Amino acid sequence: MNVLLIGSGGREHALALCLSCSSHLTQLFIAPGNPGTEALGRNVTLDVADHRAVVDFCKLMQVTFVVVGPEAPLVAGLVDDLETAGVLAFGPSKAAAQLEGSKGFTKDLCAEFSIPTADYQRFSAAEPAKAYVRQRGAPIVVKADGLAAGKGVIVAMSIDEALDAIDLIFGGAFGAAGAEVVVEDFLEGEEASFFALCDGTRALAFASAQDHKRVGEGDTGPNTGGMGAYSPAPIMTPAMSDRVMREIIAPTLAGMSVRGTPFKGVLFAGLMIGAKGPKLIEFNARFGDPETQVMLSRLDEDLLPLLLASARGELPAGPVKLSPQTALTVVYAAKGYPDSPERGSEIKGVERAAALPGVTVFHAGTKREGLRLLANGGRVLNVTAVGASVAQAQARAYAGVDAIDWPGGFCRRDIGWRALQA
Ligand code: AMP
Ligand code: GLY
Repeated sequence: MNVLLIGSGGREHALALCLSCSSHLTQLFIAPGNPGTEALGRNVTLDVADHRAVVDFCKLMQVTFVVVGPEAPLVAGLVDDLETAGVLAFGPSKAAAQLEGSKGFTKDLCAEFSIPTADYQRFSAAEPAKAYVRQRGAPIVVKADGLAAGKGVIVAMSIDEALDAIDLIFGGAFGAAGAEVVVEDFLEGEEASFFALCDGTRALAFASAQDHKRVGEGDTGPNTGGMGAYSPAPIMTPAMSDRVMREIIAPTLAGMSVRGTPFKGVLFAGLMIGAKGPKLIEFNARFGDPETQVMLSRLDEDLLPLLLASARGELPAGPVKLSPQTALTVVYAAKGYPDSPERGSEIKGVERAAALPGVTVFHAGTKREGLRLLANGGRVLNVTAVGASVAQAQARAYAGVDAIDWPGGFCRRDIGWRALQA
C-alpha cells in the first residue's frame, strides 16, 4: 500500500524508518519530511492545513493510509476529513483529539470516570482563579487550557508566582489557548510517559519512556520540547504498566466511547508516579518527540500493521514485541534554543556518527543546501543508540554526538542520569 506520513520532526524520521521497512509498504510519501526522511521515501510539499489538498493528493497518488505525526492537524480534524473522503488514517478524530487540545476537557473526563489526577478547577476569568489559588496555597500549577507547544504550564512555587501566571495567561501570552485556565494541585513523585495504541474500544500497551524537559543539565532552566529520552522507563515496571492500563487508559477509552467520541490512535499519558500510585498529568493524542525515537528503536515487529489495526478498530490482543534493550536519545539543539535558536550553521560528520555500533541519527530541524547540511530549527538532530544497559546506550549515544562536528550546536551531557541512579 501507499502511505502518506505527515510531519517533519525527529519523530517522523523515526516513524518513516519503521514504515519504510514494512513488508506491506509500496511507496512512502512524507509531507513535508526532512533531510533524514529523503532516503526513506518521497518528501512532498503539501499544505497540511488544507484538508482538501491532502485528500486530493491521496487520490492522485493512490495513498490508502495516512499517518499523522503532530497534534495540530489532529486537533484541526484532518483524520475526520480524510475518513469522510474514504482514506483510512492513523490518529484520533477532532473530537477525540480534545484529550490533548483542551486540558479542561481531560480534567472533566477524569472527574467523571474516576481517573486519578490532581484536584483542579477550570476558570474563564482571572479573579475567581486567583481566589482559588489563595485558598489552595502553593506550590500549585497553572495551565493554559489549549495547545501552547508545551509552554502553557507554570509550576508555581509561591502564591505570587501563581497569580502572575494567571495574569500572563489571561493577558494573552498564549493567544486563544489561554482563553481558559486550569488550576491544579502540585503532584509529587517521578514522571514517566506511557504510550498505548487504541482502536476506539481496545488498548494495547506500547512502551514507556522518560524524557528530560529542561534545557540545562541536572534538569534545570526553562522547559523545552525535550532534550533527550530513554526507553523503557525503569519506574514503569510490568506491574505499574498494568496499573496504568487499568486505572488510566481503560477508563479513558471507556469514557470517550460513552460520550460518543471513541479514541483511536496513540494515547500518550504523561504520568506522575507518587507514593499512592500513578496519576495523570496530561494526555497527548500522538506519539512523543523525542520519545518515539527511542521507543521505535526497540520495536521488534512491523509497525505498519499495528497502526493499520488501530485505525481499522482491529487491534490484536498483544503484547507488542519490544527488544529488552535500552534506547537513549540525545537531542542536539542549535545554540540559543529554546528562546532563539541560531539557524544556518553547518553540521558535519552525521554519517560518521551513524556508522558507530548501535547508533542512529534522526534529523529534526535540518536542511540541505547543495551538499551541505545546515541547522534549520531548535531541536536539530536526535543522536540515538541502543545498548544492553542504560549505561551502554548512553555511552554509544554520546560517542555519536562526539563524532559530529557542529560548533553551532549544544546538548545536555547527562541524559539518562535518573535511570543510571536507579
Ligand atoms: P504538561 O504540559 O501538562 O505535561 O506539563 C508540563 C510539565 O509541568 C510536566 O511534565 C510536569 O513536569 C509539570 N507539571 C504539570 N502538572 C503538574 C502537577 N500537577 N504537579 C507537578 N508538576 C506538574
Ligand atoms: N516530548 C514531549 C512531547 O512530545 O510532547
